Amino acid sequence: MEQYIRLLIVEDVPDDAELMVMHLEEEGFNVEWQRVQTEEDFLKAMEEKPDFILADWSLPNFSGLRALTLLKEKHLDIPFILISGSIGEEAAIDALHRGASDYILKDRSKRLGQAVRRTLDSRRYRKEKERAEADLKRRLAELEVLYRMSTSLRYLENLNEILTAMLDQILAAIDTDAGAIWLKKHDQDELYLASSQGWYTGLDNFTIKSDDSIVGYTYNKDQPYSCAEYVRDNKLSARALKVTPPGWGGALIPIHSHKEKIGVLDLAVPLPRIITDEEIRLLVSIAEMAGIAIHRTSIFEELQAAGTALASAYDETIKGWATALELRDKETEGHSERVTAFTVKMAKEMGISEEKLIHIYRGAILHDIGKMGVPDTILLKPGSLDDREWEIMRKHPQYAYDMLDPIDYLKPALNIPYCHHEKFDGTGYPRGLKGDEIPLEARIFAIIDVFDALTSDRPYRLAWSRKDALEHIKKESGRHFDPQVVTLFLDLIDEFDPQET
Ligand code: C2E
Ligand code: SIN
Ligand code: SIN
Ligand code: FE
Ligand code: FE
Repeated sequence: MEQYIRLLIVEDVPDDAELMVMHLEEEGFNVEWQRVQTEEDFLKAMEEKPDFILADWSLPNFSGLRALTLLKEKHLDIPFILISGSIGEEAAIDALHRGASDYILKDRSKRLGQAVRRTLDSRRYRKEKERAEADLKRRLAELEVLYRMSTSLRYLENLNEILTAMLDQILAAIDTDAGAIWLKKHDQDELYLASSQGWYTGLDNFTIKSDDSIVGYTYNKDQPYSCAEYVRDNKLSARALKVTPPGWGGALIPIHSHKEKIGVLDLAVPLPRIITDEEIRLLVSIAEMAGIAIHRTSIFEELQAAGTALASAYDETIKGWATALELRDKETEGHSERVTAFTVKMAKEMGISEEKLIHIYRGAILHDIGKMGVPDTILLKPGSLDDREWEIMRKHPQYAYDMLDPIDYLKPALNIPYCHHEKFDGTGYPRGLKGDEIPLEARIFAIIDVFDALTSDRPYRLAWSRKDALEHIKKESGRHFDPQVVTLFLDLIDEFDPQET
């Protein structure tokens, strides 16, 4: 596969530059290139943001190090390889410290193609990892918001308290100070301001017909609506325009209670800020939780229903993450659900208490959530992993621990995500626990996870037959797996083939 690359060469000898290009072409690059030999031309060429820079160590009126310094001053993140006839080790290390990607000796120029490829690969890998980490952080932040909200709401019984607490937390979550919850009146076709913060408090007794203005539009359409600036949005009614300050944009999200629409969450941010798609996604989850909480107070208020509806909304969120992970790792579709059902069943058979089962359920669903922190290049790699890649892949139980441990709700569910790759004989990871040191639910889970993994296609190999997979489990009894659990597993497997659910 040819890779197109725009190359800038800092070099005074035209033949040398030609030679570099030739080496890159031999490596399979489709090169568009330009040669410069002065600072002025270099700066001009930089404006076109080349993909890669190769620079000779010394030129009559310029030098590779000077070019590197200019590049760093401009804070441009362009890979840079220094080439020299006789670079001393110290000079080479100095260049790397200053941010060169690599250096090459002229008499070793055959390495050039590979060095460029390696530099590009490791950059791509780094970027992907950064993206995966940012993703993980964002999801974690979302989880924290939802968790804080669900715990604080659980103990509040009166609708006003709930709405106030909820709005406070929503505003904190998206870091703004103006927002409102509009609810539909039971007996009238009107939405009223049930709770408000910031400039919305000035709207006081304002009501909106359920098809009027932006709030009514969102309610009617039953879809999130994002608004660049309220007062310039032609959906805003003339009456609302009088009470809405300029300089605010925002997002509106419908709120449901069971299947019924009940209102609109309305949040404003000062320009030029906008509410991002990611924030809207979070707000949709929050609005869902809000709907359930409102439903609970208005219908079950006197029953003091102890927040089971909230817990189940929360479990839906957890399932959502497992699905998000599976979407990334396409081949493992349904894996979490299958192994979870079987794990809970086996745990029950082994006499694990009812109240622990819910944690086992959550832990099993989330067992590989730490793979969120593993970049695509590794997670989806078709072949086997090299040492460095394994090192990162082996961190997924630790990533899961770091992610879930701060969350009270999920702390008791940690055993499976953290310990599912420990082995009975002590040769597993991350801690090398042995025998009974490994929590029972993790010993149970490990067998089911491996069985399901082996009988499914993976990016790195096709599925094994059921017979081969069972042979493997038997063979590993006492090594990878707890022999007692293996025996029970073999008894139950015919009753419950995870492949068929
Ligand atoms: P996974 O694919 O969900 O596999 C879970 C566990 O099932 C593995 O844990 C291993 O104990 C077992 N297993 C899966 N496939 C095989 C297999 O072909 N042969 C044998 N003997 N056992 C298998 P392990 O080894 O700690 O791997 C953890 C994760 O690392 C895997 O989760 C997968 O995401 C990744 N991985 C493992 N090997 C490779 C590989 O060769 N290439 C790539 N791209 N990823 C790999
Ligand atoms: C040079 O820097 O002049 C030589 C590099 C090469 O031959 O590829
Ligand atoms: C609306 O009236 O639709 C929006 C009210 C507001 O946010 O000012
Ligand atoms: Fe795993
Ligand atoms: Fe797994």
